[in-house]
Amino acid sequence: MKKVRVGLLGFGNVGSGTYDTLKMNMGKIERETGVTFSIDKILVRDPSKPRRSEAPAELFTQDPDDIIGSPDIDIVCELLGGIEPASQYMLNAMKFKQHVVSANKAAIAANYPQLMKAAKDNGVEFRFEASVGGGIPVLSALTSVLGANDFSEIMGICNGTTNYILTQMTDFDLDYEDVLKVAQEKGFAEADPTADVEGFDVANKLSILIALAFGEYVAPGDISTTGITGITKDDIASATARHQKIKLIGHATKDKSGKLEYSVAPMELPFSHPLAGVSNEFNAIFVTGNAVDDLMFYGKGAGPLPTGSAVAGDVLEIGKAIAKCAECEK
Ligand code: HSE
Repeated sequence: MKKVRVGLLGFGNVGSGTYDTLKMNMGKIERETGVTFSIDKILVRDPSKPRRSEAPAELFTQDPDDIIGSPDIDIVCELLGGIEPASQYMLNAMKFKQHVVSANKAAIAANYPQLMKAAKDNGVEFRFEASVGGGIPVLSALTSVLGANDFSEIMGICNGTTNYILTQMTDFDLDYEDVLKVAQEKGFAEADPTADVEGFDVANKLSILIALAFGEYVAPGDISTTGITGITKDDIASATARHQKIKLIGHATKDKSGKLEYSVAPMELPFSHPLAGVSNEFNAIFVTGNAVDDLMFYGKGAGPLPTGSAVAGDVLEIGKAIAKCAECEK
């Protein structure tokens, strides 16, 4: 059986979720793909730090060169977060002809054109399903089975932390600070939750969705962005009295002339709107295509295992391609 060797850059919530997903389902994965996957190295800052998931100590390294450019690693999974050094690590891995999987929306949105070009120039796969909507396979859908559509609208709840906060404040009258703490404990929030609550995380995700659905790159800094820090309990009570829910929405439209409009902002949605029923860490992304019409993708948008599921899915797709390629060469 072909063995595909994987290196993880980072072993936080997403790294450990990826490790656990592959470990939990390896028997099924091997049976169905005909490929065996092994995580052979994990880059961490502090090997002695207690973690949510157990991995053998010999896998840990503090040297990125044990993974990037190593002839013993086929797929580099960049799960560090932050724009740098993550972007440089991905570009370097591609130069060494390693395939790259990333969950890092900040790095991908900031350097999308360079990363896509590097992948193409070096003939490697670059997949990033986990970067938008956690476990929801929306990016693969946009680029594969929905690829025959011309899209006109994307509207999404793309941040689990803020959706969790708004849901808990609305349903249980809880305080913002208390709920944010729980979201952090559950592994939904970014290391610095400012990116979540100020809407920057959604702007990163919307930039990626726009690139894939509309084929245009819009830097996240060019997207008008308002987060949820200004939302008070009174705003929520007033919305509820009018049968509306407040949701943080990433929205992009393309008109007939091809002009794009985009924004991230809290919006009031009537209770009857399908996005109004999306609660807690669940995300949902609405897309409208000229052939398929309206579609909604729904699932857990944050958390170690849902996000790990998406990273592992990308690893599997690349592994299957590597195995097929090895077969062709025989
Ligand atoms: N902090 C992000 C969220 C993690 O809450 O949605 C998943 O991208």
